[in-house]
Formats: sequence, C-alpha cells, structure tokens
Amino acid sequence: MNLTVIGTGYVGLVSGTCFAEMGNTVTCVDIDQNKIDNLKKGIIPIYEPGLEQMVSRNVENKTLFFSTDLAKSLEKSNIAFIAVGTPMGEDGAADLQYVLQVASDIGDHMQQKLVIVDKSTVPVGTADQVKAKIQERLDKRGVQIPFEVVSNPEFLKEGDAINDFMKPDRVVIGVESQEAEEQMKALYAPFFRTQNRMISMDVRSAEMTKYVANAMLATKISFMNEVANICELVGADVNKVRVGIGSDSRIGYSFIYPGSGYGGSCFPKDVKALKRSAQQHGYTPRLIEAVEKVNDDQKFVIANKVVSHFGEDLTGKTFSVWGLAFKPETDDMREAPAIYIIKELVKRGAKIQAYDPKAMHEAKTFYLKDIQNVSYFDSKYDTLKNADAMILLTEWKEFRSPDFEELKVRLNEPVIFDGRNQYTALRMEEKGFTYYQIGKK
Ligand code: UDX
Repeated sequence: MNLTVIGTGYVGLVSGTCFAEMGNTVTCVDIDQNKIDNLKKGIIPIYEPGLEQMVSRNVENKTLFFSTDLAKSLEKSNIAFIAVGTPMGEDGAADLQYVLQVASDIGDHMQQKLVIVDKSTVPVGTADQVKAKIQERLDKRGVQIPFEVVSNPEFLKEGDAINDFMKPDRVVIGVESQEAEEQMKALYAPFFRTQNRMISMDVRSAEMTKYVANAMLATKISFMNEVANICELVGADVNKVRVGIGSDSRIGYSFIYPGSGYGGSCFPKDVKALKRSAQQHGYTPRLIEAVEKVNDDQKFVIANKVVSHFGEDLTGKTFSVWGLAFKPETDDMREAPAIYIIKELVKRGAKIQAYDPKAMHEAKTFYLKDIQNVSYFDSKYDTLKNADAMILLTEWKEFRSPDFEELKVRLNEPVIFDGRNQYTALRMEEKGFTYYQIGKK
C-alpha cells in the first residue's frame, strides 16, 4: 500500500518505518524542514534501539521517503496517518491544534478517496472533529471526495517500540464502514504471523481504549507505590509482597514494580487528559485523581530519604546520580523523576554529579539546563568522586551489577539510595553499605 504518515515524532517515525519494513511505500511528512533534511541523511531525532538501521535500510530500498510536501505525498496515498503531537494544554486537556491543522491541510490537498487514521493519542470525539474539519475544507474547495476517519491508537513502549510495532499484542481500530475495516485489516495482517490480534470497534471506543490502557497501567504503578509506602511503615518488604501477589494470574507480575513514580510522554499526560475529559462531562474521577496524586508525591520519596539521612540543609553535600531518563533504553526525560529529585536536592544546597548512558544531552539542553550545580560525567564511576552517596534513578542494565568495592572506595560514605530497587536482593548491608530502597525500611 502507499501510505502518508504525517508527523515524524516518536510515533510517526516508528510507525512509518515499520510499515515500510513490511513492504509498503511510505512517505513521512513533517513541516520541520530541518528534521526532514536530517532524516533524509539518516540522522534520527530520537534514540530508539534498532530504528536508525531500519530507517537507513528502507530509505536505501526506496520504501521510505521523507518530505515536507503533504500535497504531493497524498497524490499517491490511499491511507494517511495523523501522528502529530497532542501536548498537554493549560487545563490538562490534550491540545488538539496540531491534529486539527493537519486535518485542515488534508482537506485542502486530498485529490482522491482516502482513509485518514488518527494515530495520535486524542480524546474521545476527536475523530468527529477531524472529520468535520476535513469536510469543511472540501466544501470550501467545492469538491466531493469520499473519506473516512479511523482511530488506531498506538501502544508502543519507548525503548522497545520496534518490537511492539512489528509483533503487536493487539491492534485496535475504530471504524465506521466495513470497507475501511477491510483496508486496515489488510494493512496490519502481515504483522500477525501466528494469531490475528486485530480488534475492531466503533471509533469512540477505540479512542477511549488508549486512555484506559495507559490509566490502568498507571493505576497499577501508583497502587504499588502506595503499597510500598505502607510496607515501610508496617515493617513489610514490598519486594516480597510484589512476588506474592504477582503469582496470582489475575494480578500478574507486570507493572507492579514500585519505584520513583512513572514518567514519560504518555502516562502523566494521558492520566491527566482522561481526568480532564471526565470532569468536562461533569464526573469527578476519584481513582484517577488519586493515581496522579500518588505519583506526584512518589517522585519525592527518594529525596525525602536523602533528607532524613543527611538533614534538611544539604549545603556542602555532593550526590552521584545514576540515571536521568524516565526509564532505560531511551534518551527521553519527559516527566522523569530525576528532574524533580535533582531540583529538590539542588534547592537544598546539594551538588549533583550525574551520568546517564543516553539522556545527558537532553538533560543539558532542556530539562536541567537552568539548574546550577549539576555536572555530567562520562562514566558512572567518575560521578562517585567526593560524593556523599549514590542515588540510582533509572534501571539501566549497566547499573545492575556494578563493582561495589569501587563504589565503597570512591564514595565519601558507603550510602546508596536505590530509587528502582535494583540491589534489593544483593544483601547490601552485608557488603558494608547503608542502603535505602523503596518500600522496605
Ligand atoms: C507507555 C505504555 O506502556 C505504552 O503502551 C503507551 O503507548 C505509551 O506509554 P512508555 O511511556 O514508553 O509506554 O513506558 P513504560 O515502559 O510503559 O513505562 C512508563 C513508566 O512507568 C516509566 O516511568 C516506568 O519506570 C514506570 N514503571 C513501569 C514503574 O514504575 N513500574 C512498573 O512496574 C512499570
């Protein structure tokens, strides 16, 4: 098939590239000329394992193209994906200006029958708005061209997005007509080798599914973080409780790891947007509000432990921080707990010596740009020099089994604050460390 994917952000680039990999001809369109020029040269704006190679391969094979010319790309396409950003608006609702601008551009330029697919995460009812906007532009042109707006939310995890796209647990589509349904099924059929995991439904339910999936996962995490806080108070060990409950197949082991709170581009934004959407309809979503509140507080649990060990005033103290990204295998720092924790410690007078395998550029350029007293190092061990404690905030594999003797020699004091419970099974006290973790005193 011939596809246009509009928006070369995380979702658009991964989706477009994977569709090309499956043999479709794909043009990824963006208004950012610089981004498009770079992509043509194989320069990828994000770090995602396997993506760079896949982009190069498909550019070489002439299955993947990059362009700023939407009109030209639409000439050949029978399906157009909208994959532009839906940032959080001022009131917490998703800001639809980019989605609706694209809808308007599509309406201005489409020449033949087209299926328009919403891949961006959008509130329920957005497909109707996209449809109205396209129709408005077609009417203005005085032309009648048949089209349908389909919802096809993405469920990609950063760091594993290629795998998620190429071997999906499920593909959800919200459609009106059987024709569009058949077309979407044909597009996705090659991605299901053993079992067809296509789930079709009406458009509004598909839009809702995306928010509910993310809110449910966020709920599991906030629930476990709350349990972790209670475990500490009552003298239980959340790591054992986690295994105890996960063994119940109804509960399961995934997404019940306590930590320093969820971050990233999806959970915080989508939980807020679902809450806002409920409120706009006159409903107070009590559970979802609590999920958010627990997460906001959880980001400070590790900072609070640092304060209870070293005192309120951290002037003259230096902390080694391992991990800045909101999770491993990504350079993404959006809503990363590290931002909040570092700011809090610096506010109290501390100096930070940080290392992250991928996210230091993001930290320096955006998220911690204006924060004084943060320095960056090329290796995790270098951050330990003259540091009073090590604080682990992202569970990168290279942090999992470090040389603890090296830590002891380099740190002023052998103190570790483990915000991801990575060393919980390693008998840290026996190794001579004062060891703080989440959910166990
Ligand atoms: C998530 C969804 O998983 C994905 O389906 C959706 O399309 C986008 O949002 P992503 O944001 O890439 O993907 O990250 P994910 O791996 O789901 O982790 C989200 C956050 O939850 C991270 O901050 C992670 O550290 C945290 N987390 C996850 C926990 O604290 N505990 C867990 O048990 C699992």
